[in-house]
Amino acid sequence: MKQKVLIVDDEISILQSLNGILGDEGYEVVQACCGEEALERARKDPPDLMLLDIWMPGIDGMSVLDEIKKLYPLLPVIIISGHGNIETAVKATRMGAFDFIEKPLSIERILVSIQNAIEFSRLEEENRLLRNKSERAMIGESAAVNLLWEQIRRAAPTNATVLITGENGTGKELAAKMIHLLSRRNTRPIIEVNCAAIPEELIESELFGHEKGAFTGAHEKRKGKFDMANGGTLFLDEIGDMSNRTQAKILRIIQEQIFERVGGQRSIEVDVRIVAATNKDLQKEIELGTFRQDLYYRLNVIPIYVPPLRERLEDLELLVEHFAAEIAGESALGKKRIDPRIYAILKSYAWPGNIRELRNFIERLMIMTPGNVISPDDLPADFRNLVKDQIGDTSWLQCQSLEEARSCFERHFLEKKLEENGWNVSVTAAKIGLERTHLHRKMKALGIKKEGNG
Ligand SMILES: Nc1ncnc2c1ncn2[C@@H]1O[C@H](COP(=O)(O)OP(=O)(O)OP(=O)(O)O)[C@@H](O)[C@H]1O
Ligand SMILES: [Mg+2]
Repeated sequence: MKQKVLIVDDEISILQSLNGILGDEGYEVVQACCGEEALERARKDPPDLMLLDIWMPGIDGMSVLDEIKKLYPLLPVIIISGHGNIETAVKATRMGAFDFIEKPLSIERILVSIQNAIEFSRLEEENRLLRNKSERAMIGESAAVNLLWEQIRRAAPTNATVLITGENGTGKELAAKMIHLLSRRNTRPIIEVNCAAIPEELIESELFGHEKGAFTGAHEKRKGKFDMANGGTLFLDEIGDMSNRTQAKILRIIQEQIFERVGGQRSIEVDVRIVAATNKDLQKEIELGTFRQDLYYRLNVIPIYVPPLRERLEDLELLVEHFAAEIAGESALGKKRIDPRIYAILKSYAWPGNIRELRNFIERLMIMTPGNVISPDDLPADFRNLVKDQIGDTSWLQCQSLEEARSCFERHFLEKKLEENGWNVSVTAAKIGLERTHLHRKMKALGIKKEGNG
């Protein structure tokens, strides 16, 4: 869908040239040559973004800005003015303008600013949707999850820095989002920075932004993530994977909440709450000399640990049901029922990729299972093998109920005996003292199949 830009200026030449340029860039352009017309058009059909001149006969730009913000508080407005002075720029920003660009207009600057504004609105919208999602986005009723919730609820309303640790795929990012949503900052965005993914030489400009011409390729001024997160939360993900140099910079800004854009003179002050996450053991990294101890103490004000799935297997049923419904809802797959016999098998696996791995696995089952019921028979062969390898003789000890433990044991036992007897059901049945038909039934119920036949 095309983004609709409303341009408001009394200079016809500006309207015309912007109209041409933005049209070429794929925007839908609407024009107004005075404040009255701008408000009328915006009321009838709200744009996605507004470019607004300040000095116009009749209602001036500042009053239009004021009205527009009352109508659509989230609509990004970029001021374009030939009479820019610091005071008007500051005033406009206070009134909620996204950016202030002086005339004569630099096309590149306008385009970059528009892109930033649209990206920013997208984040705000995402944030709003997230807020509307039920509070119980974090599924689970185990003691481990309840404790996690309790910690999140306590930490969220404060401004304290939070350090979330846990294995891959346990839900660290989800925890970070919940902290933001349950905080007073939730009307502003949570901005994510993947510290592992940004090349070292770009991290400063990524975090702090840069001024035009700060380095080769810096054609335009750009806001950094700290700027974008102002008033909200900055989520520093994979914090254990930063270079020493970057760690030093992050430490300084966390301490001072002040930074300079790359190539800039001015110090910028921001109000940002930091939530960091890592799957590394930072204590160990400190011993190895790869993580700064002082940064660790700065970040680790409120530590929150997200437990691995294998330590909260009680939640597995709920999670599977949740994912099955979610996947059915977001695809054309249709609902599928989960045969409860599957759970004992799923619980005998260690889930090193945790909840993400479980979700992907359920998605795979939902797609690959032809019928409406997902039963042990539908478990793919590679997964069976994994489970078989993992199942130690005491794996049933991990099960919660006697019934589960029994299934777990029986499956392991029968598989082993069948293997020993070349998967001959009659022979195996005779040896272990079962009716052949009974063994058949058990195999079906427990999802036991000869390797490679799955
Ligand atoms: N308790 C939960 N209930 C429902 N979904 C969950 C829960 N925890 C995690 N998830 C889902 O599992 C997936 C992985 O979670 P997330 O990305 O937060 O993990 P992570 O710890 O940040 O992983 P990584 O270490 O790989 O970055 C996501 O799709 C997330 O929505
Ligand atoms: Mg993550």
